[in-house]
Amino acid sequence: MADGGYVASIDVGTTKICTIVARVAASGQLDILGVGLHPSRGLREGVVVDHVDAVESVRQSVRKAEEMAQLPIGGAYVGVTGTHIRSRNVTGRVRVASGDEITSEDVDQAIQSACDNVALPHDREIIHTLVRDFAIDGQGGVKRPLGMHAARLDANVHVVSAAAGALRNVTAAVEEAGVTVQKQVLEPVATSLAVLAEDESDLGVVLMDIGGGTTDLAVFVNGAIAHTGAIPVAGNHITSDIAKLLRIPYGQAEQVKKQFGTALVNMTNDDDAVLVEEIGTQEQVRVPRRLIADIIQARLAEIFQLTIENLQQAGMYDTVTSGVVLTGGGSQLPGTLEMASNIMDNTPVRIGSVRGIGRGANRVASPIYATGVGLALYAAEEGADARPPSPPVYLEWVEKARSWWRSRRIQPRISAYLPGK
Ligand SMILES: Nc1ncnc2c1ncn2[C@@H]1O[C@H](COP(=O)(O)OP(=O)(O)OP(=O)(O)O)[C@@H](O)[C@H]1O
Ligand SMILES: [Mg+2]
Repeated sequence: MADGGYVASIDVGTTKICTIVARVAASGQLDILGVGLHPSRGLREGVVVDHVDAVESVRQSVRKAEEMAQLPIGGAYVGVTGTHIRSRNVTGRVRVASGDEITSEDVDQAIQSACDNVALPHDREIIHTLVRDFAIDGQGGVKRPLGMHAARLDANVHVVSAAAGALRNVTAAVEEAGVTVQKQVLEPVATSLAVLAEDESDLGVVLMDIGGGTTDLAVFVNGAIAHTGAIPVAGNHITSDIAKLLRIPYGQAEQVKKQFGTALVNMTNDDDAVLVEEIGTQEQVRVPRRLIADIIQARLAEIFQLTIENLQQAGMYDTVTSGVVLTGGGSQLPGTLEMASNIMDNTPVRIGSVRGIGRGANRVASPIYATGVGLALYAAEEGADARPPSPPVYLEWVEKARSWWRSRRIQPRISAYLPGK
């Protein structure tokens, strides 16, 4: 990253848009300069459903982050999620000229040949080709094949594709809000950078980001990504259930969930109750906390069940030896860890806290910031720079000329002909 530069990220979530501006410190950590949080409108399960609302939400979030950082955002790394995402592990192969060292061209060709093995309909685009490992002459587990000698090089690659229309709609909303999309990154891939420890990904770990609209999954085995997925059930479904079953407005249900909700029924007492106001009445009704916990427990259990099914279908459930890391706003209810561990065969479960932050860590401490921080870390790793492009030289020259005129209190002659002069 250029000296004095900084990175920016935009997590286009279902419940909130989160813009982060950060500077990469000499230690390699990020100093958080600005955070802009704004309720998300016009998005559902990671997909834009109302362009005008989405643009306005992004604009507000970006403005807040710029104000806090006192810096303009020209470009940003932007998150992508949704059930339109597909991921596959594929292998590509090249023959290396005999006796020769493996070159970077060989590596590129092997990766390209892996991508060519993915049948891609015209309405889909590849967004990531993440190398898992290489094999030379059939010997797997090679991380850096450059300079090694072999007759055959195989690249094992995790290829992620997305619906082209969904990608374009997010890009259009962000760019209309005045920010160039530098890269679109799969959200769980970004989030993993913010919350996973290296040892965990070596041993095998599942990252579960329980957001508002989707629960995003990423599995890491042997230090490399092995599976990604998105389940269309998350925290907002819990709130909707509470609203429908208690017949209260969605906003009140959200408040009741956060203030009084628990993931497990056995964490409540028989006589604990909450007062709520039913839709259409002005009367306060007593609702046992046990009932609220019951509603939450059923939905959360479904989220963990669907996760198990997703992992089993991908053949990944048994590879996760170091456990599950939870993040996202939907992971915050008391008892969630215990429930996850119970349902997932006593697997160790922990809450992923955000890592890699120097100054300003308190600004992004909640798990709702994990994706935004991960996107900023991704941008920093790739040497991105969020500064707006400098104005063209001739505009600078015009500005200099203007200030020269002003400094001499001379009006350019043209002003004599302007209306009203
Ligand atoms: N303290 C809390 N307790 C329980 N649930 C919470 C809490 N804080 C936030 N949530 C829930 O977390 C969800 C939002 O989480 P998050 O901000 O990670 O989602 P998002 O990134 O906007 O959505 P998505 O990732 O699905 O696009 C909402 O359903 C909200 O009700
Ligand atoms: Mg999210």
